[in-house]
Amino acid sequence: MRRDAFWMPFTANRQFRTAPRLLSRAEGMYYWTPEGRQVLDGPAGLWCVNAGHCRPRIVEAVRRQVGEMDFAPTFQMGHPIAFEFAERLAAIAPKGFSRVFFTNSGSESADTALKIALAYHRARGEGQRYRLIGRERGYHGVNFGGMAVGGIPTNRKVFGPGLSGVYHIRHTHDLAKNSFSRGQPLHGGIELADDLERLCLFHDPSTIAAVIVEPVAGSAGVLVPPRGYLERLREICTRHGILLIFDEVITGFGRLGKPFGAERLGVMPDLFTTAKALTNATIPMGAVFAKEEIFDAFMQGPAGIELFHGYTYSGHPVACAAGIAMLDTCEEEGLLERAAGLESRWEAAAHALKGAPHVIDVRNFGLMAAIELAPRPGAPGARGYEAFVRAFESGVLIRVTADIIALSPPLIVDKPQIDRIFQAIREALTSVA
Ligand SMILES: Cc1ncc(COP(=O)(O)O)c(C=O)c1O
Repeated sequence: MRRDAFWMPFTANRQFRTAPRLLSRAEGMYYWTPEGRQVLDGPAGLWCVNAGHCRPRIVEAVRRQVGEMDFAPTFQMGHPIAFEFAERLAAIAPKGFSRVFFTNSGSESADTALKIALAYHRARGEGQRYRLIGRERGYHGVNFGGMAVGGIPTNRKVFGPGLSGVYHIRHTHDLAKNSFSRGQPLHGGIELADDLERLCLFHDPSTIAAVIVEPVAGSAGVLVPPRGYLERLREICTRHGILLIFDEVITGFGRLGKPFGAERLGVMPDLFTTAKALTNATIPMGAVFAKEEIFDAFMQGPAGIELFHGYTYSGHPVACAAGIAMLDTCEEEGLLERAAGLESRWEAAAHALKGAPHVIDVRNFGLMAAIELAPRPGAPGARGYEAFVRAFESGVLIRVTADIIALSPPLIVDKPQIDRIFQAIREALTSVA
């Protein structure tokens, strides 16, 4: 079969064609290659298949819905299943997050949350709040808003000037002080969060609309916030009337041992974004959760469309069916809390890699972990990529971002599977130069 036409995303296309890695079937904790080789799923696909693959309830719900009503609009129309799913989501959200805006991806959720923040201030007569603040090494997807507030240089540098009025606070990763931290690092939280206070003083806080951060940065390589950091961000935002947005596209839906990362970390934002595990990744979908007060601010003016924003597929019926079945599966199996019970085993297995070849840091939180490798001199990323290929050949899928191995297995993972993931990494590291 020719493999020329598919321009693959975030992929070394030419390299891939010389040695393709293909997956053609999935169930539970495993993928299978077209040749029938079983591969244990270490990153839950792409941080998204939290309930494991091809869960029967979800498969059946999608089948049923696609035959009953494939699509219906949600602009000035509605369908019952979208309302039902939003109610179910509001019921598991932290208190006060009573409104749900549907999107189709994490990128769209990030841009939607930023636009809601800007429009919210405007609706309250504070239209001068137009500045947006992100964080170095943050990832909020690839659309223009998320790219602007995101902080991964390769994702930004060839795409022009982006949005104006966007600033970044420093990232929270400090290898010198916090390497091999178990859970939240001890050092630097207050000082790093005070970057926000400095930006406020410099730019006039009454011009700042929102700050967006991932509670735990995922794509940049599992950067766990130091103790006190998020609390301080919250305090500064509240003091200056700035909205705090959490991007929970990875940390939502049980990844950290509670339904949402905000609950695990004990800090509440004003808006938060989700996608990925919202439908167990079966059908693409995202959702922005808003506090009641934010929604209410939009409901004050003359009757009419309150927010000129939305997507053709917002609240897509098949995605809603998948999402409801995902929540049912989570409830039946206690998946949104399951990570809490596995965390100590996960942590111990990850940190056992301290001392393995090339390892300069191990960090973990909930069912997330990263193993950071020393880059090969003159070839950053090569060692990580080779470890990824070796692990795949040995039957374990891992994710690498440059020289950082990132892990986030489906929440149904068992203890022997946890051990197998880290054993495969140890073997891969031993065989890589
Ligand atoms: C925190 C965060 N926000 C946004 C996104 C973008 O999501 P999507 O790829 O669905 O657009 C991701 C994807 O990894 C993410 O991790």
